[in-house]
Amino acid sequence: MKNEIDGELLNIPEHVAIIMDGNGRWAKKRFLPRNMGHKAGAKVVEQICEDAHNLGIKYLTVYAFSTENWKRSVEEVTGIMNLLRNYLKDCIERASKNNMRVRIIGDKTALDEDIVVSIDELEKKTAGYNGLNFTIALNYGGRDEIRRAVTKLVSDGCKGVISPDDIDERLIGSYLDTWDMPDPDLLIRTSGELRLSNYLIWQLAYTEFYFTDTLWPDFDIEELKNAVRYYNGRDRRYGGVK
Ligand code: IPE
Ligand code: IPE
Ligand code: MG
Repeated sequence: MKNEIDGELLNIPEHVAIIMDGNGRWAKKRFLPRNMGHKAGAKVVEQICEDAHNLGIKYLTVYAFSTENWKRSVEEVTGIMNLLRNYLKDCIERASKNNMRVRIIGDKTALDEDIVVSIDELEKKTAGYNGLNFTIALNYGGRDEIRRAVTKLVSDGCKGVISPDDIDERLIGSYLDTWDMPDPDLLIRTSGELRLSNYLIWQLAYTEFYFTDTLWPDFDIEELKNAVRYYNGRDRRYGGVK
């Protein structure tokens, strides 16, 4: 899909994935506790969902909490989970207003029961909405996602539902949390780190990467437009010759 951005006709990536990094450093620069950075970061997510939709992006998938983030202090993890509780509640109303479909990927079994209930409610209530497809990666790790997929695949193999000859890339993709989404076209990581940190490692195989030094709580529509402009300058060859 093409859209005019500031007078320029640009190709809009269908699916944008974001590693929202730098909340802690943003807070530290202001002599605030780390959780204030997470709070500011959560506000920015709300705005970016609206901006992404207005630009014509169809899928937005954000990394909110990794399977490795449990290594942080109890205080920080509790703070993030409480923030999430509030976020999920507010999100139902916002999603209805903006016609946004919300889904959560990651291993939900380690989350507190009330959070799982809120997630189920949010996913059910927004399932029919056809605006932005917004996905939150929560207790998500790319390797863990593949581990869970393999467990299910082997189990289906044992039951005789699938045989080794059935296993192709499409089938593997259908066992992942992202089974009904296209692969991301553009990945954005904020805060200057140039790594994936276990994010969507299968799905990002041919994605274009945009890195910015901006810390997540300072990310805004201008940054998003810069990422889309950068994407337009890339030549996606997928291993072929153009
Ligand atoms: C990203 O910000 C949010 C989470 C990982 C939950 P960080 O908390 O990693 O911020 P920095 O990298 O320490 O600045
Ligand atoms: C990645 O950020 C996870 C999220 C943004 C949720 P981290 O801050 O956890 O990544 P590392 O530790 O710098 O690789
Ligand atoms: Mg970080």
